[in-house]
Amino acid sequence: MKVGIMGPGAMGCLFAARLARAGNKVHLIDHRSDRAERLQRRGVTITGNGQSFTERVSVSTQAPTGLDLLIVLTKAYHTSSLRFPPETPVLTLQNGLGNVETLCSAVGSARVIAGATSEAATLVEEGVVRHAGSGLTRLGGWTSCNPEPAMNMLVQAGFECAITQAPGQMIWEKVSINSGINPLTAILNVANGQLLQLPETRPLMRDLVVEAAKVASTEGYRFAYSLVELAEETCRKTGENISSMLQDVRAGKQTEIEAISGEILRRAQLASLPTPRTRVVYQLVRGLESR
Ligand code: PAF
Repeated sequence: MKVGIMGPGAMGCLFAARLARAGNKVHLIDHRSDRAERLQRRGVTITGNGQSFTERVSVSTQAPTGLDLLIVLTKAYHTSSLRFPPETPVLTLQNGLGNVETLCSAVGSARVIAGATSEAATLVEEGVVRHAGSGLTRLGGWTSCNPEPAMNMLVQAGFECAITQAPGQMIWEKVSINSGINPLTAILNVANGQLLQLPETRPLMRDLVVEAAKVASTEGYRFAYSLVELAEETCRKTGENISSMLQDVRAGKQTEIEAISGEILRRAQLASLPTPRTRVVYQLVRGLESR
């Protein structure tokens, strides 16, 4: 298949290299032309998780036409400025709330597939990724887009994959987990697994996840299983991983706090629901960003 991947971060490089290795024609899209040129020359390298390999992929600043699928793996704050070729189905695997809605406005809901991945990856340097742990990637057509061709391609490249009939629920599940793990790891400068070991952080993570789940319920999403347990399991499975938010803070870059805790706060406000812990971690991460 001919697949485009927008965003040359840890996840973008991981998906690009694995899909290229499985024989797909991969096109990585990077809005920065200097970096695109270097990535094209050096390729993308994956290490960790018992593997080490480099794949050459074509890299450019704009998505070409004629792709079978376009996977969006940019930071959430870039979603509204992305440009898409006509007709290609678009799969978002980004963190945060609001990406799907932005993509639907850009290309129409019939072309949008929502996704969430539990793969854990760290960008060691430009184009070099440490794959810290494998996890399930779930996909669901937002309205009428068939997610099966995308799923088959990912499965063939070795990703553990499943289709969901409830993509909105899946996104709330992922953002609730991120709302507990990402700000705390960023504020405390610790790997995901340490949140379970520090006596104060485990209950705090639990409270953050519960606040997010309460906001989800105001939009009609109810979970028959414990999101707190899922967040704790994610910390265990990705124990060594540096969360994407901590990677951003360490690199002095903007984080996805607006699309995660910020968006939860905005929606809580609309429902007149107090979310005091989410507000505090939001303010602390905003403080880290503006140092
Ligand atoms: O954003 C991240 O880093 C990831 O979504 C997760 C699951 C927290 C693992 O590090």
